[in-house]
Amino acid sequence: MVDQIKTLDDYKKAYKNSIENPEDFWEKQADSFKWYKKWENVLDWNFEEPNIKWFEGGKLNITENCLDRHLETRGEKTALLWVSNEPDGEDKTFTYQELYQEVNKFANGLKSKGIKKGDRVVFYMPMVPELMIGMLACARIGAIHSIVFAGFSSQALADRVKDAQAKMIICSDYNKRGAKNIQVKSVVDNAIKMDCNSVETVVVHKNTGGDIEWNDKLDVFLTDLTDGVEEYCKPEVMDAEDPLFILYTSGSTGKPKGVVHTTGGYMIYTAYTFKNVFQYQEDDIYWCTADIGWITGHSYITYGPLLEGATTMMFEGIPTYPDAGRFWEIVEKYKVNQFYTAPTAIRALMAKGDKFVEKYDLSSLKVLGSVGEPINEEAWMWYFEKVGKRAIPIVDTWWQTETGGIMISPLPLITDMRPTFASYPLPGIQTILVDTEGNLIEDNNVEGLLCIKHPWPGILRTTWGDHNRCRQTYFSAFPELYFTGDAARRDEDGRYRIIGRVDDVLNVSGHRIGTAEVENAINETFGVVESAVVGYPHSIKGQGIYAFVITKGQINDEVEFKRLIESTVRTEIGPIAKPDIIQIVSGLPKTRSGKIMRRILRKIASGDMSNVGDISTLLNPEIVEEIKKKAPTM
Ligand code: WTA
Repeated sequence: MVDQIKTLDDYKKAYKNSIENPEDFWEKQADSFKWYKKWENVLDWNFEEPNIKWFEGGKLNITENCLDRHLETRGEKTALLWVSNEPDGEDKTFTYQELYQEVNKFANGLKSKGIKKGDRVVFYMPMVPELMIGMLACARIGAIHSIVFAGFSSQALADRVKDAQAKMIICSDYNKRGAKNIQVKSVVDNAIKMDCNSVETVVVHKNTGGDIEWNDKLDVFLTDLTDGVEEYCKPEVMDAEDPLFILYTSGSTGKPKGVVHTTGGYMIYTAYTFKNVFQYQEDDIYWCTADIGWITGHSYITYGPLLEGATTMMFEGIPTYPDAGRFWEIVEKYKVNQFYTAPTAIRALMAKGDKFVEKYDLSSLKVLGSVGEPINEEAWMWYFEKVGKRAIPIVDTWWQTETGGIMISPLPLITDMRPTFASYPLPGIQTILVDTEGNLIEDNNVEGLLCIKHPWPGILRTTWGDHNRCRQTYFSAFPELYFTGDAARRDEDGRYRIIGRVDDVLNVSGHRIGTAEVENAINETFGVVESAVVGYPHSIKGQGIYAFVITKGQINDEVEFKRLIESTVRTEIGPIAKPDIIQIVSGLPKTRSGKIMRRILRKIASGDMSNVGDISTLLNPEIVEEIKKKAPTM
């Protein structure tokens, strides 16, 4: 098992050691895992290409470390505790032994359909145990999983399937979420029709048993795949640098890109950060409320906890069903010790009033976590006072899909906390701030662009099928640095507070959405000439989506037209990208070279009308007044 920091002194020592001798530091953590063959080299890197290799030549299988390795000591311990959408539904538990058996069978099922090392398997599934079992089954045989959040549209799913050239899609029939019964298989059916020619098999998990269409050429039930297969599947021998998964994420330009994580480094980094940030102890019940379709679910529902032999909980439902007390009811029922959620959920529950949280006994809680977006002070205080009863530390964890694991976070009861500050970098993480020219800012009490200057084991290695895009996006802004896309403030004691994205990426309810993606979707609507999308402060979602749209000629029915735009965005991306506000305009503020001045639109969208700044360089300065006049008052 990896090291666990217990005191402030431990943290300081570990941090110093990890900076002075990063290779020794990580090698020691790597030594705590089971390897079939030891690595030849701890680290080989440059940020120019980039070329980053941790533990190259080392041979392992991550599922051996998540499962087999625990059987002797934790075989009867609960590995997965699954909580149903229905409060009176049947929850399920899997011991390490049981999870191991399920994964082995699933893995043999995949093999029976011709899936082998290096093949890509896309999952489009709700939060059911089969999703976790399936992703581990892929890892067992060396197939690369790519999980697509089950709220994305057919089009978005097809884009990802085609980019990854996936051989198989695994889905459910329907998805239960709150009071809704959502079609899943039909979304896959439509995606398949969009030239997903690489797909040979669609595996369907019978979740509700509802009616679905059936394609004899492609479709097979999961049970038919796993019934009667061999109980044991020998783990595939993987190199530390073999890809483990692809996860698509939005950037400031173009379509989402496939962030690639590899096996060895990701394993070490998620295990180390899980154990330290949550201070997990052997008998604790740990619950992360994220969806496995996002990186948080990959690293902190599945891999990190299982690597450390934890009991990890998985929740099928939503925080407000049947009412806003659901999270707390579950915490009380299962005596949850570590609870990890997103600020948007905290704000949504806060808005429903305190009575829901006051009804339940939350005394089992030891650590509260936050992730995905900046947590505002009001939400932080509510979390601290109402949920933690002023006695429990909050870990505001900053990280990204690309970082694989948590990068900046307090360590509970070890380092101090300051509301809204993600605080201190974890061991191994060399955070720096630079100005827009790339000059290092050494002082404290400053703001700057957040960069990392040395690789850590969990860093992305490439973007699938397009290495140059990886270099362009993360390693070209400033030489020899990984640029996060975030701005941050560093206080007088060296704590970091994340301000937010400085690129054209929105963070809506903790979901990353590229403005360009939403604009492209809006522009598909009949009657739209051009659009510009910006974020604005939203009391629950953190950021809302504000779209300025130029139309072809006069629109007769504005309400209907806006509805049409919304439905196009749903079709192209999914409901999470639906604009909150659509304003029809006759033009967009542009520079002489034709670039949209988003800075001005952002000001208008946030209601800061009097302060739009210099507009003298615009090609069409008169448009600003017109847009301001017609902007809806909020
Ligand atoms: C934002 C989610 C402030 C940030 C794990 C980052 C945060 C983006 C925090 C990555 C936090 C994440 N405080 N902002 N604690 N955590 N972010 O890839 O802008 O979905 O760049 O990864 O979310 O989002 P992603």
